[in-house]
Amino acid sequence: MKLWAGRFSKEADKVTDAINFSIGIDKRMWREDIEGSIAHSKMLSERGIISNEDKERIVAALRQLSDEIEKGETVISEEYEDIHSFVEAVLTQRIGDAGKRLHTARSRNDQVAVDIRLNLRNETDRLLKLLEELIALLSDMAETYADVIMPGYTHLQRAQPITFGHHLLAYAEMLLRDRGRLIDAKKRMNVCPLGAGALAGTTYPIDREMTAKELGFDAPARNSLDAVSDRDFCIELASALSIIMVHLSRFSEEIILWCSHEFKFIELDDAFSTGSSIMPQKKNPDIAEIVRGKAGRVFGSLMTLLTVMKGLPLAYNKDMQEDKEAIFDAFDTVSLCLMAFTPMLKTIKVNKEEMRKAAAGGFINATDCADYLVGKGLPFRDAYKITGSLVAYCIENSKVLEDLSLEELKEFSPLFEEDVFKAISLETCVNNRTSYGGPAPENVRLQAKAVKSELSGSK
Ligand code: ARG
Repeated sequence: MKLWAGRFSKEADKVTDAINFSIGIDKRMWREDIEGSIAHSKMLSERGIISNEDKERIVAALRQLSDEIEKGETVISEEYEDIHSFVEAVLTQRIGDAGKRLHTARSRNDQVAVDIRLNLRNETDRLLKLLEELIALLSDMAETYADVIMPGYTHLQRAQPITFGHHLLAYAEMLLRDRGRLIDAKKRMNVCPLGAGALAGTTYPIDREMTAKELGFDAPARNSLDAVSDRDFCIELASALSIIMVHLSRFSEEIILWCSHEFKFIELDDAFSTGSSIMPQKKNPDIAEIVRGKAGRVFGSLMTLLTVMKGLPLAYNKDMQEDKEAIFDAFDTVSLCLMAFTPMLKTIKVNKEEMRKAAAGGFINATDCADYLVGKGLPFRDAYKITGSLVAYCIENSKVLEDLSLEELKEFSPLFEEDVFKAISLETCVNNRTSYGGPAPENVRLQAKAVKSELSGSK
């Protein structure tokens, strides 16, 4: 069963197979393994290394196998060490010597490096689509809620008024950066290791440009040692995926807070929340919580990859077989999180009244009150001090700034006039925050448009 049985006089111990086999994980790359082998055989025949007839047989048998696996007519047998051994074994059973010629001028070291790059290129494209759906949703929702006033927080204390649309667009910006990181990582990983052989290239007259082109890579990898020992792309992708999870986790945390009874800013749709087995009144934000929890798992994959690679001498070492489980799990986890998060967000009910109530209750117009006095000629520091005393007075008397009469205000500063009430109304406070990037509804609409155009721009 082993590709390398020739040198050995004894069968491997069961436990050797148990720790050594990777087919349980790498069978996921069967399409890419076949695709890579087709390209390799075409190149071998083009360069006269195998005959045209052998190439025809190999390509037909590989296409046939691919078709059968796709339809479930052939099941990938886990009796083999890895997906490369399985494909080669089936080929040899079916077409004999032609199958045995496929591995000329190739090693599993360059083969696996090609497979994983091809596989992750597709995974990245799938994930980009999911990410883009969420960004598009955020920009739509930002337009819908462009003038819904809510408190903005620092230290989780009510700070200044913002709009819900503005808050949502903050996440759109984070996710756009995530998108950029994935696109960047994809560009860097798109070089072809095939032809690097085990580590030192080959004496056969191969054409690496041809296989690189055939497989949609930008170029062949320049250094054969680097080509087979590089897993930077896995680390970069796991890092980009980890940052996505940081963002989804922070967003989840806010959603969990917002749908608590203490905030009541939003309500989750029944289809995207869960109940309690004992407390009949409960409606729990489990999706948001599990997304927050799964962040840890993705960070774990990044740590696995960094640790596996950090002490390896050049070139290939078996430690590197651990790469696939980590990076595949990271992709699966982030995809699942995005698939659940987007429809959960899309179906929330936004409780504008509660947001406004919270905005009205926390002195979040205090800065605007100070700015009003600045407008009347007072230096900012003095205005700040007067407003501070006003806030203390309000707290003592269970009032907010807008509740005070002009007489009360004038006790603190003669500069207060009738126009102060308009100046410190929440609407004025938000509508006047038109500085670039600020929360005014007109800004939010422009920002949402900019997000959409960045999204539809070229990659
Ligand atoms: N299963 C191996 C991996 O995933 C494939 C390469 C094996 N090469 C070797 N020389 N043992 O890394």
